[in-house]
Amino acid sequence: MIKKKALVTGITGQDGSYLVELLLSKNYEVVGLKRRTSTNTECRIDHIDSSDFHIEEYEISDSGSVYSVVEKHKPDEVYNLAAQSHVQTSFDQPDYTFQVNTIGVVNFLEAIRRFSPQTKFYQASTSEMFGKNVDTPVNFGVTTDETDHESYQDENTAFEPQSPYAAAKLASHHLVRMYRDGYKVFGCCGILFNHESERRGENFVTRKITKWLARYSTWLSKHHVLIEGSGLVSDNDDIWVASDQELRFPKLRLGNIDAYRDWGHAKDYVNAMWLMLQQEMPDDYVVATGETYSVRDFLQIAFEHIGVEDYESFIAIDPKFYRPAEVEYLRGIPAKAEQALGWSREIGFKDLVHQMLESDIANEKKEEAKEVWVAT
Ligand code: NAP
Ligand code: GDD
Repeated sequence: MIKKKALVTGITGQDGSYLVELLLSKNYEVVGLKRRTSTNTECRIDHIDSSDFHIEEYEISDSGSVYSVVEKHKPDEVYNLAAQSHVQTSFDQPDYTFQVNTIGVVNFLEAIRRFSPQTKFYQASTSEMFGKNVDTPVNFGVTTDETDHESYQDENTAFEPQSPYAAAKLASHHLVRMYRDGYKVFGCCGILFNHESERRGENFVTRKITKWLARYSTWLSKHHVLIEGSGLVSDNDDIWVASDQELRFPKLRLGNIDAYRDWGHAKDYVNAMWLMLQQEMPDDYVVATGETYSVRDFLQIAFEHIGVEDYESFIAIDPKFYRPAEVEYLRGIPAKAEQALGWSREIGFKDLVHQMLESDIANEKKEEAKEVWVAT
């Protein structure tokens, strides 16, 4: 049987690693594209051992490089996951963010139009494109209490981007639609809401929290005897042992913890990407859980999991992590993806938090064991 060939950008990232696993399990030949870097960035895909998986270097902002790779492989499917994906970074690097997140997409769309018009294209759009806009159910009672969480975004919600990242992604979203209408390119955009995992980048808020908690709980167990005898206190920046000023651990420093997000697990979400390209007609879909939680809710569940009720004493609010413009509330309605694609998610919010935390704690223990082994 002839295998389908998929080209995947962003393979060294969170979603890329899960998507490659999914495609290989479906008997694809996968060409993973990565940019040249001076150090190894393949830790998320190191475990993949398959003769159907090859990695090639390219440069997404260089049209010649993208044209060559598309012309050479003429793949059945392209999944464009590569991006400068950090919202806060985009405020400091707007030009670069547009080079990667918009010009990169133009390069792929042009390459497909010119050299491989039968190739199906998936574009990683984002809930950030909605920005501060929400829709509210018509019969939304008398209360406007935000804790009701009745407001939502879906495929019909107007876009109002709040960051260079979101503006660049929205430009690409429209370009895909335009190439679909104008040139009949089979292009789909997945409007994915936040999705996390054990492989999430360490500077996104969820992983920053679970990683900090794993380090903190390892530190606690290392100094267990001392702490039991002396108790913990805290000042503005540190948590420390009352009887020993030297024994300090830095607090978890965060920005706006009142923001709400619709958080799912990346493993569930890459399945939706694949399903979109298996349909007869190209279209755009919201992929989300339909639930929203604040960063505070995430903190509460994560801290409780290691036996701490009062998370507030362990965090410091640092203006450095505030954004010039914030997206305060995201809750996506995935009804279209559920009905048209038969997509559903398997991992709920609490399990997501617990899985991320358990994985980080296990990693910390492994690191500690290595240190002990080296020291003895
Ligand atoms: P990620 O973990 O940050 O991965 C981003 C990938 O893009 C990495 O492989 C990275 O390569 C690559 N990349 C960055 N700059 C590049 C450049 N200049 N040239 C080529 N490659 C570059 O992001 P993710 O969470 O997997 O997200 C995947 C995609 O979905 C992104 O487009 C993101 O914007 C979008 N998205 C994500 C979410 C979410 O909640 N995760 C939601 C909606 C949409 P290096 O390893 O070399 O840095
Ligand atoms: N990163 C970060 N670091 N965010 C913090 C912090 C902090 O120390 N403290 C509070 N936050 C708040 C942010 O202000 C934001 O409101 C929320 O936590 C989530 O931030 P991130 O985890 O950085 O994710 P994001 O929602 O901005 O963007 C992610 O999701 C988008 C989809 O909605 C990224 O994966 C984007 O690439 C993706 O498109």
